[in-house]
Amino acid sequence: MIFCVKRFLSFLILVFGIAFIGSSIAGHKMHDNDLELDVDNAELVAEGKYWFARRCAFCHGGDGIGGKGPCLTCGKFTYSANTNIDIMTTISVGIPLNRGGSMGAFGTSMPAEAIIAVVTFMRAEEARRIKSGEVPDPYGAQEEAMVFPE
Ligand code: HEC
Repeated sequence: MIFCVKRFLSFLILVFGIAFIGSSIAGHKMHDNDLELDVDNAELVAEGKYWFARRCAFCHGGDGIGGKGPCLTCGKFTYSANTNIDIMTTISVGIPLNRGGSMGAFGTSMPAEAIIAVVTFMRAEEARRIKSGEVPDPYGAQEEAMVFPE
């Protein structure tokens, strides 16, 4: 247990460290304090796609279009808030049964860098799908999708 907590803390430190360093990258983020993801970095996106296919596609469908688990590239997240930090936390700690979930934690079996790559891939794929009209744009359609609790 101590091991898990330590692992999670180092994950958070890494995430916020990268958020700080990365504040000059023009990537994807949901608000000023969200972790900015370098969605234009093709190498990082490809690495995320690789991890996604190995660890996530089984439940979330190829390219995250949904399956046993919800769509992760439709711009809608019902179990976590729609920020990069929240999504990464969900992947790291899972969704416990007492929160109505059944997805396990990946924070102990995937390096933090891989989780960041996976979310970068999800955001790049989400943008591509919205742009191509494959999925309706949830951000344009409803203003409240952009409002986050303080
Ligand atoms: C064993 C099946 C399974 C695997 C493997 C799995 N998930 Fe999930 N995931 C689910 C299910 C089912 C849910 C819906 C909530 C629940 O029941 O826990 C979910 C929910 C989520 C959510 C919250 C979505 C929302 O709408 O807020 C995220 C983010 C997520 N998964 C990401 C991932 C990523 C990234 C991976 C790979 C590292 C992954 N999951 C692997 C089954 C899985």
